[in-house]
Amino acid sequence: MPIMRAAFASRFDDADPLAALTVGERPEPTPPADDWVTVQLRATSLNHHDLWSLRGVGLTEAQLPMILGCDAVGLDPEGHPVVVYPVVVTPGDPRGVSILSEHFAGTLAERVVVPRSNLVPLPDGMAATDAACLPTAWLTAWRMLTTKGRVADADSVLVQGAGGGVATAAVALAVAMGKRVYATSRDAGKRDRISALGATAMEPGARLPERVDVVIETVGEATFDHSLKSAAPMARIVVSGATSGHEPSINLRRVFAMQLEILGTSMGTPGELYELLAFCSDNEVRPVVDSVVPFSRVEEGFARLHSGDAFGKVVIDHTA
Ligand SMILES: NC(=O)c1ccc[n+]([C@@H]2O[C@H](COP(=O)([O-])OP(=O)(O)OC[C@H]3O[C@@H](n4cnc5c(N)ncnc54)[C@H](OP(=O)(O)O)[C@@H]3O)[C@@H](O)[C@H]2O)c1
Repeated sequence: MPIMRAAFASRFDDADPLAALTVGERPEPTPPADDWVTVQLRATSLNHHDLWSLRGVGLTEAQLPMILGCDAVGLDPEGHPVVVYPVVVTPGDPRGVSILSEHFAGTLAERVVVPRSNLVPLPDGMAATDAACLPTAWLTAWRMLTTKGRVADADSVLVQGAGGGVATAAVALAVAMGKRVYATSRDAGKRDRISALGATAMEPGARLPERVDVVIETVGEATFDHSLKSAAPMARIVVSGATSGHEPSINLRRVFAMQLEILGTSMGTPGELYELLAFCSDNEVRPVVDSVVPFSRVEEGFARLHSGDAFGKVVIDHTA
């Protein structure tokens, strides 16, 4: 049986997710239907989702081994450079869809199979290593700001946990849209780097100079009360993650008195991915990249993400 190199979850380890990561050989993927194609991978990036998978969140033992990775840029069967939209229709999943590495094998491999309709042309002039940051974290941030947060009607935005992949995306995009952006981070070094992106950096929990119209929440329990307190009347608090815990206590009096909207969201649509690629291309916005690691040393990328020290995306170069 033909084999390829891949990074996959071979078991679950909630306390030490890196111990559940295996880098080794897996069978070559075969398209499960005529409208699926094989993509030769050029660049991918890591997401907190990959750590959740290693912890056993969203996967069952029966699905192991599962190749990790949601993001990808590669070559389609005709050799054209493409960005892979990572959401796949999945009958049987309560959401109706799943993200690559949940039901279908992920992108941290030499090749991945996806529906041909999930392929989006790589914009001219955009590096594969930059575009590989966009389909998950940046797409999520784009939808949080635009479709859900209605940022076009907003003057100010708060981004919590600003060192993260989604969070740095939200900061860079909101700054490029001309908004006043506040961003919290626990780390002084990351606050300096957030300031360099054009945001006002704050310590977690600090009182903002103003109440904001849109809050970008991926941290959860550790920051949610601050998000509520920082929200202006009629503000939108958009939630796509809960890294520090998913059961915060919520002051409902504040929610109704200030007429706040708390909106959940996941990923984005193919149309939103096209919009995001065009916005980045037209405005010369490029992802915040923490580090680029060769695929041959993918474990180092996981360790970097798990350390919490990363600022922006950890990218994996499959050509190195
Ligand atoms: N629903 C979706 O479609 C979707 C898509 C992408 C991501 N997500 C979710 O969004 C979350 C972030 O993902 P990511 O890939 O951006 O993760 P990441 O790059 O690992 O960033 C996580 C950030 O959260 C902050 N953080 C972690 N623990 C914290 C704590 N106890 N207190 C305060 N801040 C804390 C940190 O910011 P500082 O170090 O700066 O404080 C860290 O940089 C994850 O839970 C992920 O599953 C969801």
